[in-house]
Amino acid sequence: MYAISTAAFVSVLVLASSLAVIVQATGPRTLCTETYNVPEGATCDNLGAILGANQSAILTMNPGISCEGTLPAGEVLCTKTWDPTCTLNATATDTTCDGLASKWNITQADFINYNDNVNGDCTDLVSGQPYCVSISGCYPGNPDPVCQQ
Ligand SMILES: *[C@@H]1O[C@H](CO)[C@@H](O)[C@H](O)[C@H]1NC(C)=O
Ligand SMILES: *[C@@H]1O[C@H](CO)[C@@H](O)[C@H](O)[C@H]1NC(C)=O
Ligand SMILES: *[C@@H]1O[C@H](CO)[C@@H](O)[C@H](O)[C@H]1NC(C)=O
Repeated sequence: MYAISTAAFVSVLVLASSLAVIVQATGPRTLCTETYNVPEGATCDNLGAILGANQSAILTMNPGISCEGTLPAGEVLCTKTWDPTCTLNATATDTTCDGLASKWNITQADFINYNDNVNGDCTDLVSGQPYCVSISGCYPGNPDPVCQQ
């Protein structure tokens, strides 16, 4: 009886650690630092000429769009991206980012930008796992107080 419950307990631990590996931090999200509002009737080719970027670069920066036909007028395209480097990790003790964000003086929006494995509500953290709480540099529109002049 004891042996069976020990085995069951161990398999729960193994399952929990394999789940934890899946959600482990892979680092900050690629951030869009410059955007462009698509005018009426524009195609990826037109925009490529205007923006000085080829079609594959436009698609890489905007994975949701299709370059077949005209682009939806008014769509906001990303035209320049930045891959920040994480400079500090902290260990989660909770499943939300509230505690870590306030401890490290960053907003929830920062926290989500710094960790590409958390959801948009910052509610799927895994206790005991490292999360990025600081990156090198500021970007336009960064809500971090230290980036506001
Ligand atoms: C498209 O632009 C990217 C970024 O400037 C460049 O790395 C790539 O070689 C270009 N591809 C072609 C087919 O010109
Ligand atoms: C933060 O943790 C991630 C995931 O373990 C790791 O890849 C990264 O190198 C760490 N970064 C720093 C600055 O310690
Ligand atoms: C957090 O940021 C605010 C605004 O810049 C600053 O006044 C405050 O001292 C910071 N707190 C900590 C703990 O760093």
